[in-house]
Amino acid sequence: MLGLRKSTGLTKSAVDGYTARMQGDIKDPKLASEGKRLIDWAAQDMPVLLQIRERFKREKPLKGRRVGACLHVTVETANLMITLKEGGASVALCASNPLSSQDEAAAALVGIYEIPTFAISGEDRNTFFKHIKSVIATKPNITMDDGADLVSTIHKEHPELLPQMIGSTEETTTGVIRLRAMARDGALKIPVVAVNDAKTKNLFDNRYGTGQSTLEAIIRATDMLVAGRTFVIAGYGWCGKGLAMRARGMGANIVITEVDAVKALEAAMDGFRVMPMDEAAPLGDLFCTVTGNVNVIRGEHFKVMKDGAFVCNAGHFDVEVSIKDLEKLGAAQRALPGGGGKPKRVREHVDEYVIGKKKIYLLSEGRLVNLAAAEGHPASVMDMSFSTQALAAEWLVKQKKKLAPAVYDVSEKIEETVASLKLASMGISIDELSAEQKKYLSSWQEGT
Ligand code: ADE
Repeated sequence: MLGLRKSTGLTKSAVDGYTARMQGDIKDPKLASEGKRLIDWAAQDMPVLLQIRERFKREKPLKGRRVGACLHVTVETANLMITLKEGGASVALCASNPLSSQDEAAAALVGIYEIPTFAISGEDRNTFFKHIKSVIATKPNITMDDGADLVSTIHKEHPELLPQMIGSTEETTTGVIRLRAMARDGALKIPVVAVNDAKTKNLFDNRYGTGQSTLEAIIRATDMLVAGRTFVIAGYGWCGKGLAMRARGMGANIVITEVDAVKALEAAMDGFRVMPMDEAAPLGDLFCTVTGNVNVIRGEHFKVMKDGAFVCNAGHFDVEVSIKDLEKLGAAQRALPGGGGKPKRVREHVDEYVIGKKKIYLLSEGRLVNLAAAEGHPASVMDMSFSTQALAAEWLVKQKKKLAPAVYDVSEKIEETVASLKLASMGISIDELSAEQKKYLSSWQEGT
């Protein structure tokens, strides 16, 4: 916990609030004013969330509820947390990934917005889980997850909290897969809204957010020219599609690997080469996994890769690239004293592994590179995802605990609200159905 007498660099009223009530575990409270500047900057590009915040402030739909969130602790997430608090909830936040936390945002949340936040960038595994426990200690009745760590920890270690829970929301594909598996096994005890599966989330955040931020991270980390490189992308879901689309725009030669026949066909008809990883491994200059699955790039692939190949992951967990295999190959080939095989950090976010005579570069320790080596998705696209999150929390409250434990889709009404507000914020208006068109669409008698 933070020492409350630490110098915070905050205004007196913020410090008073902090001293009286605030908890958290953050890197440095002195970063709070910088964090506020960045949170305000992001807010300018989150007009839908700001409109929801204004309504929440008036109507207090989350009054008396305790929201526990385990999300990437970024300035965009900070804006969501502030919105939930304005909606009347008490809120506590921890990191959903040890490398993605923005320490300035965490400091501002604790010191200025008085939202208990447990997140330190680069935190070790123990601290990461300790932080999840700190949020669980607030006894949330709504949880928000990015990867389902919070809700699965509550199910496994604190089932006594489940009866007072209203439900949960899930931000990412990987988390929804885990939650559906829990539901199938009869292990899921609360209703969960699959925010990830909303069109207003995955068509935009997964596609344009991951596409842009992953390329940005690769370029920031390596300073490479993308043009002319063979870029192997594992997975052609919305994240893979966005990444392929943007990388093609920068002149990369794209190769897609897939296990799903329909997605593979889609990639082929989108004009990309499609082949198994075994064939792609010797061709690629750059590799990125976005599959949500384990060991997609592993020993047999590293063995045949080119000297100087770059490997990274933009999937939620750091399981898609087998670091164990990289270390093993490095150790066996280099026969380091003490069985080493550990990489050399050659640049921030770039680790060099030597395998025989060649070098392979792993970015951000195989963790999701767009949040570790860049700032994640831009605010403008998180605006839609996090507006959907805020409205999903409100929807859960409105169901008055009548929902059976299951994974629920975001309602059409919420999708429509978020899309319409976003269009309006972009100054775009669209046509409306005429009475005649409505009638035509709802009848079955007319035809050829
Ligand atoms: N996931 C991807 N990008 C993000 C961001 N900027 N903030 C929170 N979660 C994210």
